[in-house]
Amino acid sequence: MEKDATQPSQVQQNLISRRSVFSYKADAVDQACLEQAFEAARHAPCHRQTHPWRFYVMGPETRASLLPEVDRMLAANGEPDPEIRENAHGKIMLPPRLVAVTSARSPDDAFREEEDYAATVCAIQNFVLSLWDQGLGAQWSTGSITRGDAAYRALDLDPAEERIIGFIKVGYAAEVPQRRKKPLEAIRFYRP
Ligand SMILES: Cc1cc2nc3c(=O)[nH]c(=O)nc-3n(C[C@H](O)[C@H](O)[C@H](O)COP(=O)(O)O)c2cc1C
Repeated sequence: MEKDATQPSQVQQNLISRRSVFSYKADAVDQACLEQAFEAARHAPCHRQTHPWRFYVMGPETRASLLPEVDRMLAANGEPDPEIRENAHGKIMLPPRLVAVTSARSPDDAFREEEDYAATVCAIQNFVLSLWDQGLGAQWSTGSITRGDAAYRALDLDPAEERIIGFIKVGYAAEVPQRRKKPLEAIRFYRP
């Protein structure tokens, strides 16, 4: 039987209902849920089969090792308000899971590195959509703490070998934000 294209499938509903989640319940996220999402990530498309992505699940020690750098960044703008400091620490320590994602560097081949970056973004979206399908929210973060030397040290990574693309916060949503998206007419064009 042919599929009815006017009826969104469960997969389509999963795609269009996903939103970035910015506040999480304290509930733990089972490793089995993460593993299923990594399995989805592993199957992302990738030109020349370079599989340039790596996912690093950051435990409490690794996360805590970033806090002095957070303090240093805050102090650069003067003595921080304690509430601002707590909030900044919370962004690192509070998400039930925090996953750093890297993509392989290709210093001698800019096009390869660009294609690998694109493939890693596909893997991240597979990861996030698999989580969403399992009832879990996620948010991609590219804040300065994710890009600085301290993050490479905390994760024991060589910046010449792999680039941190971002941190993905994972947890059960306390709230799912609404987002206005561009209408189809503004993004899709058929040419004769
Ligand atoms: C490449 C990328 C980087 C992002 N970095 C951040 C970030 O640093 N901080 C943040 O609050 N949200 C960040 N986001 C989340 C976006 O702001 C969010 O996905 C978007 O505004 C909401 O749309 P959505 O609910 O459909 O995901 C990032 C998203 C992407 C794709």
